[in-house]
Amino acid sequence: MMKYVHRNRVYSYFAGGTLVFAVLAGVFSACLAEESQAERPGGNSKCYVCHPAMKTEELTTNHLGITCDVCHGASTEHMHDEMLMTKPDLLFGRAEVRGMCSKCHEPGGERQVYGRQDHAYPDAVEAFFKKWTGRMRPNGRAVTRDSVCTDCHGTHNISEPLRTQSEGGQPQWVAAFNGRDLTGWQSTAEGSWTVKAGRIIGKPGGNEKGSTLWTEATYDDYLLAMTFKATWPIHAGIWLRSEGSKHSPRIEIIKAKAAFTSSVLVPGKGLALTNLREDLVDYESWNTISVKVEADRIQVWLNGEEIGVVRVAGPAKGKIGLYIDPASKSAELTVREVLVQRLVKPE
Ligand code: HEC
Ligand code: HEC
Ligand code: HEC
Ligand code: HEC
Repeated sequence: MMKYVHRNRVYSYFAGGTLVFAVLAGVFSACLAEESQAERPGGNSKCYVCHPAMKTEELTTNHLGITCDVCHGASTEHMHDEMLMTKPDLLFGRAEVRGMCSKCHEPGGERQVYGRQDHAYPDAVEAFFKKWTGRMRPNGRAVTRDSVCTDCHGTHNISEPLRTQSEGGQPQWVAAFNGRDLTGWQSTAEGSWTVKAGRIIGKPGGNEKGSTLWTEATYDDYLLAMTFKATWPIHAGIWLRSEGSKHSPRIEIIKAKAAFTSSVLVPGKGLALTNLREDLVDYESWNTISVKVEADRIQVWLNGEEIGVVRVAGPAKGKIGLYIDPASKSAELTVREVLVQRLVKPE
């Protein structure tokens, strides 16, 4: 058994046994006001050195009192292993998440698990559930009846997935496409991009270089989730951070011999990441491409499955562009949603 002190209280925590205590949400919020953000010895700084993205991760920011060590163990060897061969002391597979979280988050009574219906605001959770059911979350996870806590509450891959309204400068998802018109976007080819019935429709147009619909805003590090369908075969894509004529890598929407949607193209160089899994593509209906762009690291998901991570040089900031290649001929790209969340850089 491991003991740790949290806000002048001593909680006991069994690494893999019975429930030790139950803390209700009301108690949490009462305590929250007293929480000091000051870093304490045994705090998270030592882990942030190599995991800076965790500073904005929901699991971490929600748990100011519960540091990395509490969940992952002291992990001394992992921290000092320059070859990075040693894993942290405690890791959790998907099947273990629910039990792990429920050790502390248990509504009491007979329930073993803090399920969807047990939340303090079940209506808000149901609304969230309805909104995301059948679609992939930008963190690459699916929300289903069997979802585990971290599908909804973010993995460490994403910050604050739940809040859609601005709150004290916290990062938030912003709909880059307003569902009505192309406010906030600029097309390189007149007439190629239109809005019909709340969807962006892209066609190749006459431009021999292809046609791109650029965001007016520029982005450096961000998460992106784009939901589309297409008439196949098509060759389209998403430019990630282009600046003037300097092109960033592009996520491909493609059906080639051995490269499918969510492959990553580096202009002039070829594919830096090849998606070989055609079974992940839904040719009949909607697909969601999710991307995390952080410094030179690009991580891509298609319909919730991770395709991979690549590091590629390119502009450090720039515009996001929906692209359609001239070879697409009469094909059509229909875009339902473009969500972007800027990532807050750790100081
Ligand atoms: C010297 C750099 C370094 C430090 C310090 C460090 N890590 Fe890591 N850690 C890494 C690298 C590199 C990876 C593998 C790449 C990745 O998943 O980001 C990793 C992976 C992990 C993983 C995922 C392992 C897996 O296989 O899924 C966890 C969990 C983790 N670290 C926790 C911690 C915790 C907790 C601390 C602080 C106690 C910490 N790390 C400190 C470098 C470090
Ligand atoms: C409340 C418990 C908890 C805390 C606190 C916590 N983790 Fe985790 N961590 C988890 C769980 C559970 C998973 C597996 C999540 C999943 O796959 O759904 C995980 C997964 C990870 C991973 C692998 C997945 C990924 O996204 O790369 C890394 C790395 C990691 N944690 C690092 C850290 C670091 C560093 C800290 C402190 C800044 C930290 N964790 C704090 C519970 C925690
Ligand atoms: C060791 C006990 C412990 C574990 C394990 C734990 N939590 Fe927590 N959690 C807490 C406490 C205590 C708080 C109150 C805030 C704090 O301590 O910083 C909290 C706060 C939260 C909050 C914010 C609550 C609010 O009112 O906004 C969420 C969401 C949350 N936890 C989810 C999770 C998830 C998901 C997991 C599993 C990956 C998990 N917790 C694992 C103890 C824990
Ligand atoms: C279907 C998605 C979903 C799943 C699965 C889920 N949550 Fe939540 N959770 C939410 C949403 C949405 C909110 C915010 C509700 C609101 O707006 O107040 C929330 C709020 C919370 C809170 C703060 C308020 C409260 O109800 O106490 C805690 C703590 C929490 N969740 C823990 C967990 C834990 C632990 C698990 C897994 C055992 C879990 N959640 C599973 C969606 C989910």
